[in-house]
Amino acid sequence: MQPVIEVSGIRKTYGQTVAVDEVSFEVKEGEIFGLIGPNGAGKTTTMECIEGLRKPDRGTISVLGLDPFRQVYKLQERIGVQLQQAQLQKRIKVWEAVDLWASLYRKKVIDAERLLEQLGLSDKRAAWFMNLSGGQKQRLFIALALINDPEVVFLDELTTGLDPQSRRAIWALVRDIRDRGKTVFLTTHLMEEAERLCDRVAIIEHGRIIDIDTPKRLVDRHCPERTVVLTTEDASAEERFRSIPVVEAVIPSDIGFTIRGLGEDLVTNVILCLSENRIRVSDFRTILPNLEDVFVKLTGQSIRE
Ligand SMILES: Nc1ncnc2c1ncn2[C@@H]1O[C@H](COP(=O)(O)OP(=O)(O)O)[C@@H](O)[C@H]1O
Ligand SMILES: [Mg+2]
Repeated sequence: MQPVIEVSGIRKTYGQTVAVDEVSFEVKEGEIFGLIGPNGAGKTTTMECIEGLRKPDRGTISVLGLDPFRQVYKLQERIGVQLQQAQLQKRIKVWEAVDLWASLYRKKVIDAERLLEQLGLSDKRAAWFMNLSGGQKQRLFIALALINDPEVVFLDELTTGLDPQSRRAIWALVRDIRDRGKTVFLTTHLMEEAERLCDRVAIIEHGRIIDIDTPKRLVDRHCPERTVVLTTEDASAEERFRSIPVVEAVIPSDIGFTIRGLGEDLVTNVILCLSENRIRVSDFRTILPNLEDVFVKLTGQSIRE
């Protein structure tokens, strides 16, 4: 199957600044693909090259088999775009914005009323843009990106500035888009968002891709360490824990032990050891690495703003 998006060796400079360098990846049909990295990493530049809004200095891009720069009008009919920091006129009403966007496409657009309903904006259809909450504005931008029933949807830092609850609601909407068979290409600097939402991610830093895979495989590959922290009064337990094959360190504390090891089997092995030796524990918790840890490991710095 031909990938929906193929990016090969693109580079983009602004004067002395190399924004994107030797970037290559493929996005498959029906997946949520995330380009993730800190502010200034080159995410928006890469995305806008793929959308045909900027021209890379070199390298090739194909979207739905089209050249996004030469065939931008053809492509625009088939993709949906939500731009970072998008703004509308203060006093444009929700339904007016939807109407305006719908008029930009040659092909028949989808039922706008249904779209507003799906995005929870029906009761805001007559509200001015400036009177919408942050979450409502973002939902409107999603609606505008979906109005032409696109095959590929581009979302740039969709949930930046939203509270956790609105963020979750937006994640659910993005999953719905994917579940309706569309391909989603998004950027985010939020590792939790990437981990929960994306089927695959490409980590970008200083304009270069560091690694690409599912969040789970990235964690397994770069951060195989697992930790179990447990509370027990059984002093003989330490020796038992040390004999577990994947265990690398057993660190006693006042109330119990911290057990460190490599690989997914660590947790199961500790549980089996507790059970086989009838070790009584009054507390048990795991510390598992996530995409944030992968980022720190790969770049030596935290991504948090
Ligand atoms: N139009 C522009 N002119 C000059 N420099 C730019 C322009 N757009 C982006 N840059 C620079 O290119 C780099 C990558 O920016 P950008 O693609 O916006 O990153 P991100 O979206 O990951 O935050 C940054 O150093 C940024 O300052
Ligand atoms: Mg950006």
